[in-house]
Amino acid sequence: MSNSTITILGTGYLGLTTAAVLSHAGFTVYAVEPNPDRLNAIKQGRSFFYEAGLDALVSAGLKNGTLIPTDSYAESIPNSDVVFSCVGTPDNPDGSSNLTYIFAAAEEAAKYLKPETVYAQKSTVPVGTGRKVMQLFTDKSVASPYISNPEFLSEGSSVLDTLTYDRLIFGGENQDAIQKVRDIFTHAETQAEATATLAGLPFKAKSNHHIIVSLESAELIKVTANSILALKISYANSIAKLADKAGADVVEVMDGIGADQRIGRAFLNAGRGYGGGCFPKDVSGLIATGLDYSVDLEIMQAAQSINESMPGYVVEKLQSALGGSVQGKKIAVLGLAFKANTSDTRRSPGVAMANTLAKAGAIVSAYDPQAGEEAGKELRPGIASATSIKDATKDTDAVVIATDWAEFKEYSLKNLTQTMKGKLIVDGMNCLEPANVKEAGLTYIGVGRS
Ligand code: UDX
Repeated sequence: MSNSTITILGTGYLGLTTAAVLSHAGFTVYAVEPNPDRLNAIKQGRSFFYEAGLDALVSAGLKNGTLIPTDSYAESIPNSDVVFSCVGTPDNPDGSSNLTYIFAAAEEAAKYLKPETVYAQKSTVPVGTGRKVMQLFTDKSVASPYISNPEFLSEGSSVLDTLTYDRLIFGGENQDAIQKVRDIFTHAETQAEATATLAGLPFKAKSNHHIIVSLESAELIKVTANSILALKISYANSIAKLADKAGADVVEVMDGIGADQRIGRAFLNAGRGYGGGCFPKDVSGLIATGLDYSVDLEIMQAAQSINESMPGYVVEKLQSALGGSVQGKKIAVLGLAFKANTSDTRRSPGVAMANTLAKAGAIVSAYDPQAGEEAGKELRPGIASATSIKDATKDTDAVVIATDWAEFKEYSLKNLTQTMKGKLIVDGMNCLEPANVKEAGLTYIGVGRS
C-alpha cells in the first residue's frame, strides 16, 4: 500500500495539508490546483496561507519528489489508486452549500478515472451529495467506487490533526474501496511521528479510531459534528449574556459545567462568536438541508442568530464603556484572523468588529500576527494596518481583543498602559485574567464576566 499513488483535488487548508502529510508517508501524491498563483506558491515550497509546519512538509515533499504540484487532471488521475476530492464548498447567498466545485471536479475526474481507482470525498457536503456524484459517474459509464471520508482537521493545528486524530469516518457501499483508503491512513500512522518531527511539531498519539458507516451517515456525521460544536459556543454565549446581567462569570460557569465529563469543557468559550470557513456555512448548510427534507432545524437557527449577534454585543459593551459613542475615539483591534494560529480571515469576527467601529466613527488601528495582508481586502478604508501590538495600541482610548493569539495573551500589560492613552480593555475572547488587567491599572470588560 505504501507504493500507492494518490491525487488530491484542491490545495486549500484541507487538500494541501493532506497532500503534504501523505507525501511523507511513502506515497507519491499529486496536488492538483487550478489557481496559478496558488500552484506557483506550492511549486516554490510554500502554502498560500499560514499553517504551522506545513511549508516544511511541502518543501521537503518537493525535494524528494513525492509531492507533485500540477494543474492537470490528465497527468495525475490516470496514475492514481485513490483520488481525494478536497475542493471548496462555499455557501450560496441563501446559506445553502454551493456544490459547483464538487461536481466540476467529479465531472473532470470522470474523464480519467480507471475502474479500480477509488474516488473519496473529503470536502464537507450536504447529505445526499454522494449519491448524486455516484449517479454522475454511472451516467458517464465510470465504474470507480465512491466513498465519503470527511475531514475533521482544524486550522492552526491541521498538520497534527491529520497525523493523529480521534477518529476517521468512512462511508460507502464498496467495502474494498473503504479498505483501500483505510490502508493509506493506517500506513500514514506508522510515519506520523517522523512527519511531525520534520514539520517541527510536537507529536502526541491519539486513538486513531476508524468508524465505518453508510454513505449518508458519513456525510451527516461531518456536518453534525461541526454544528454541535457551533451549538456549544452559542449556548455559552447565551449564558454569557445572562451572566453579564446576573453578576456571574461565564468562565467560572463553563469551568464548573465542563468538569462534568458528560458535558466536557471544549467549545464552551464565550466571546465574540465563531467565524471561519466552516462553522458559519456548515450551520446554514444544515438548516438548508433540513428544509430540503422538510425538517425544521430551529435549534441551529437559534445558534446562528445568537452567533451573529456576538460581534455587535462586544462593540456595544465597548460603546457604553466609552460613554455611549465611539465617534472620534482611537481603538485598536487585536486579531483579524477568525481564530489564532491561522491567516484565514473568512467570516472573521475581528474584521467585523473593526469595520463596525470604523463605520461608527472610531479611528481604528488593527493588528494580527499573520492575517494583516489577507484582512486588508476586507477592512473598511481608513482602518490603519498596524505592524505590532505597540504600533496598534499607541495613543488608543481602548483595545479590543478579537483573537486569542499567544502574542496577545503574553503581552506585557505594563507596556500597554504606557502606549495607550485610555485604560479600557475589551476582551472579546475572555483570554486575559481580569485581576491582572485591573492590577495593571486598566479597566477590564469581558463577555459574560461582569
Ligand atoms: C472547525 C472544526 O473544529 C473542525 O473539526 C472542522 O474540520 C472544521 O471546522 P476551524 O473552523 O478550523 O475547525 O476552527 P475551530 O477551532 O473549530 O474554531 C471555529 C471558530 O469558533 C473560531 O472562530 C473560534 O474562535 C470559535 N470558538 C471556538 C469559540 O468562539 N469558542 C470556543 O469555545 C471554540
